[in-house]
Amino acid sequence: MRTIVITGSASGIGAAVLAQIEAAGDRVVGVDVRDAEIVADLSAEEGRARVVSAVREQAGDAIDGLVACAGLGPQVAAHDRIVSVNYFGAVATLTSLRALLAKGNAPSAVAISSNSSRIVPEGDSGLVAACLDGDEASARRIAGPVDGSTVYANTKLALARWVRRNAPGAEWAGAGIRLNAVAPGAVQTPLLQEGLDDPQFGPAIRGFPIPLGAGFGRPEQIADAVVFLLGARASFCCGTILYVDGGSDALVRRDAY
Ligand SMILES: NC(=O)c1ccc[n+]([C@@H]2O[C@H](COP(=O)([O-])OP(=O)(O)OC[C@H]3O[C@@H](n4cnc5c(N)ncnc54)[C@H](O)[C@@H]3O)[C@@H](O)[C@H]2O)c1
Repeated sequence: MRTIVITGSASGIGAAVLAQIEAAGDRVVGVDVRDAEIVADLSAEEGRARVVSAVREQAGDAIDGLVACAGLGPQVAAHDRIVSVNYFGAVATLTSLRALLAKGNAPSAVAISSNSSRIVPEGDSGLVAACLDGDEASARRIAGPVDGSTVYANTKLALARWVRRNAPGAEWAGAGIRLNAVAPGAVQTPLLQEGLDDPQFGPAIRGFPIPLGAGFGRPEQIADAVVFLLGARASFCCGTILYVDGGSDALVRRDAY
């Protein structure tokens, strides 16, 4: 039986991943601000530290998988909080639990980015650079006056870049840990619904083309990709950003490769 830690396990995509892993007979240690085995706020140092000690208490010295899924949407008014949860909370979780993954069985970690990371223009605020420099105070300050869509997309771009920079390195691939990311498109979850209900963001989300034509994605469709990347069938995947978005990114950026 594998032990998989999932942040953001109480809702949406994280909850769908949890359900699939438990249905397969593996063990999940869920982390969330509510309704989870480990209740912790990943926006701040204290909660991030609690996750490490609590995971050690619950799972011992080794875990086999990690999904960094907790996140806040672009409609959240506190832009500094989007930065701290989406980028710094995710990177802190991945970094601090890496030693436990290194002792796991065929270990694999998956970060949840977004197709908005490249579809929304990066801009010149310096937010992505501040994130990748690990300068949380500056990143939080820069994000204040930047519009929510750009803040959100910048945090997800920085997270995807962090995955690509680290996955092939000595601490990850070199230690036998596969690190990858999933970039979902619009998926029907409470996070998306908050955006749809927002007068500023709702029309843009509704108007965005999804070529497959079946409407927004379902959390289970993203969970399928995450479970694939966690498992043995993805044993040669390292540093990949797997788009699961109904074709939106290919439509908008078709010559990006
Ligand atoms: N739904 C989409 O359309 C979509 C698209 C692209 C990427 N994503 C990403 O997928 C991930 C999951 O989103 P979702 O749509 O399932 O949203 P969701 O709101 O249903 O779930 C997010 C979970 O993260 C938790 N969380 C939020 N802040 C936290 C904090 N400070 N500490 C710990 N947990 C916290 C929430 O309590 C919630 O359970 C997010 O990273 C999101 O950015 C979602």
